[in-house]
Amino acid sequence: MKALVLAGGTGTRLRPFSHTMPKQLIPVANKPVLVHILEDIRAQGISEVGIVVGGHAADMAETLGDGSALGLRITYLHQDAPRGLAHCVVVARDFLGDADFVMYLGDNMLPQGIAPVVDDFRAGGAPAQLAVQSVADPRAFGVAELGEGRRVRRVVEKPVRPVSDLALIGVYVFSPQVHDAVAAITPSARGELEITDAVQWLITQGHEVRASCYEGYWRDMGTVDDVLECNRELLRSLTTSVQGRVDGASLLVGPVEIGEGSSVTNSRITGPVSIGRGVVIKDSCVGPDTTVGDHCTLSGAGVSYSIVLEAASISDVEDLHGSVIGRAAQIASAGVSGRHHRLMVGDHASVHMLTSR
Ligand code: G1P
Repeated sequence: MKALVLAGGTGTRLRPFSHTMPKQLIPVANKPVLVHILEDIRAQGISEVGIVVGGHAADMAETLGDGSALGLRITYLHQDAPRGLAHCVVVARDFLGDADFVMYLGDNMLPQGIAPVVDDFRAGGAPAQLAVQSVADPRAFGVAELGEGRRVRRVVEKPVRPVSDLALIGVYVFSPQVHDAVAAITPSARGELEITDAVQWLITQGHEVRASCYEGYWRDMGTVDDVLECNRELLRSLTTSVQGRVDGASLLVGPVEIGEGSSVTNSRITGPVSIGRGVVIKDSCVGPDTTVGDHCTLSGAGVSYSIVLEAASISDVEDLHGSVIGRAAQIASAGVSGRHHRLMVGDHASVHMLTSR
């Protein structure tokens, strides 16, 4: 079995971060989304992975290389424009050959892993196995209508009037029969080759398509709120590991991870918190539910339920909450305090906060 990871999307809803970093590389619990996905793929015993890339191909290759560090062999497959998820299967035709494969959308996180879906495919023998989960508003997703024994009767992409509340959650397992389907369909109203149309084609042709009702945590990293929520979820399983220095005037409460070469001085860290390497924290309160990337500097800072990306600095700003601070951004203030501040600050930005009264 091979894997196909789709990472060509641009992530416009994640601006400003997606201007400088593909959404699939945004770190969650201090690890890029794609690395979480690739580790999950490797855990299924799969080592051959094709990654469909678009405009951010160079960033992907720089972060993931040939995959050997993750125990994988990665082939990068170029898609010239976002022409749909089924088009990615067309692009990957030669790479996939006649293998069964897992198709994993590169912005969907399933931290408990996809083993139940892969096992269902192997046990069931159907040419397509779809991971689904019940959602509050199915109109934003592909939706599956199920019949007896989890057989899929119909799939519809982003229906105005959904026939069920079961969303497709970005993980599909296919046999090579799907290649006939993607070759047979035509672009949708939005001009894309939809994978839901390819699946529907299989159903219409009389092939068996089955669903796996996924019970673990799942999140589509569509918005900044999704990224923060998923970060909080992943941090729930953090265990304490302190490799940096923590002075006697500091207090660590709950699970806290501190990377090599980092120092914590006169500060309170309330876990779960993940702090990367080479981070300097002094006179600050960090956490809970917060990730601080490598080489950040926090001085006189108060940060909770937030993600601070690599090499950012925050000085004299308390009460940052629900914020994402871009790489190498600088946040400083002249005496702002007293209430929560929510900031979405892109890479290399510089923000100075002044008191209004
Ligand atoms: C895509 C698929 C949709 C699926 C969703 C899961 O939608 O087209 O069927 O439910 O991913 O995240 P998109 O996120 O590209 O709008």
